[in-house]
Amino acid sequence: MTDGSPGRLIVVEGIDGSGKSTQIYLLKRWLELEGYKVAFTEWNSSALVRRATRRGKKKFLLTPTTFSLIHSTDFADRYERAILPRLHCGYIVLADRYIYTAFARDTVRGCSPAWVRQLYRFASKPHITFYFNVPLPTAMDRILTGRPKLKYHEAGMDLNLSNDIYESFRLFQSRINDNYHSMIGEFGFEVIDATLPIEEQQEQIRRITEEQIDLSAFRQRSSKRGAHV
Ligand SMILES: Nc1ncnc2c1ncn2[C@@H]1O[C@H](COP(=O)(O)OP(=O)(O)O)[C@@H](O)[C@H]1O
Ligand SMILES: [Mg+2]
Repeated sequence: MTDGSPGRLIVVEGIDGSGKSTQIYLLKRWLELEGYKVAFTEWNSSALVRRATRRGKKKFLLTPTTFSLIHSTDFADRYERAILPRLHCGYIVLADRYIYTAFARDTVRGCSPAWVRQLYRFASKPHITFYFNVPLPTAMDRILTGRPKLKYHEAGMDLNLSNDIYESFRLFQSRINDNYHSMIGEFGFEVIDATLPIEEQQEQIRRITEEQIDLSAFRQRSSKRGAHV
């Protein structure tokens, strides 16, 4: 960790349907069963900004800049309450989406890449960022099979890419995917071929985690395995 805290941060990134939540859940279960100190956090709205975001979205009051600022406020709240304290307490923190989600989305919405990166400079660089690389049609097939109801902003309708919400979603995700690709080298993403079977990806993820993090330092003092019952 760049700030010298004893914890380790592992994050997953990729477009919707790339398999992030599936893989980080399996990683979490494995680390827990092995007896390590693990905490989990995901990209969702905190109470602090939920109402403001909802009102702003409903009334179309948000510009790309204000939209981005609200999300960064939201993230800062989660970072300071949930992520940083656990890193300081020596946890392996698993995050389902991190700052790269904002970099990809906000840049596609028209914010300057340098400006967005600057906005999130308070956040530590993860030890490992798994990027789930998936062709757009594969991800679309996985999530649109049931034709779920898409939300206006989730589908990028504010970008006026198409009047059809599914087509807009496809175009929006495609741009986000391109954006993620351009970040691979910049941030040292560990690229996972997200078309592989779930178990195969999980094996790679566990191997990379073991290689890059000294897990023995995170063993709970009274793990279930070690405890006398
Ligand atoms: N490797 C895979 N092969 C086939 N289907 C998968 C794979 N990984 C995940 N899925 C399925 O795709 C859907 C989206 O997965 P999810 O983990 O929720 O993706 P994300 O969190 O990236 O949006 C789920 O129904 C999941 O079961
Ligand atoms: Mg998910």
